[in-house]
Amino acid sequence: MSELVRISMSLENSLMQAFDAYVQAEHYPSRSEAIKALMRQCLSEQAWEHNQLVAGSVTLVYDHHRQGIVKRLMDVQHDYGAIIVSTQHVHLDHHHCLEIVVVKGKASQIREMVTIFKSIKGVKQNSLVMTSIGKALV
Ligand code: NI
Repeated sequence: MSELVRISMSLENSLMQAFDAYVQAEHYPSRSEAIKALMRQCLSEQAWEHNQLVAGSVTLVYDHHRQGIVKRLMDVQHDYGAIIVSTQHVHLDHHHCLEIVVVKGKASQIREMVTIFKSIKGVKQNSLVMTSIGKALV
């Protein structure tokens, strides 16, 4: 953990009140913790925008009875094997599967894979959660 620094800033009272209400509503333990979380979120978003090394997860829901879908999804995952850290498969019901694909790699490659998932007929949900690699979370 790096050395702590103290900062002070000036801002409108109305903005401070609105932010404190946000901190309370979101159950952050303190204003400082909320600001730190938002700063990390900004840095993570910037890393994605600048095509840096990032991490995340892709959650897919699909009907495995759909012709060819399982093979197609497997082919894509083999094509992007270099950025896939792990996958978890859950059989939701008789028809539906939920798959979580954990990824770490260049942002552009991850987005490319997600776009291909979108193009596959029968994929009903396809959600990307964008995070940072651990050491970027300073
Ligand atoms: Ni399944």
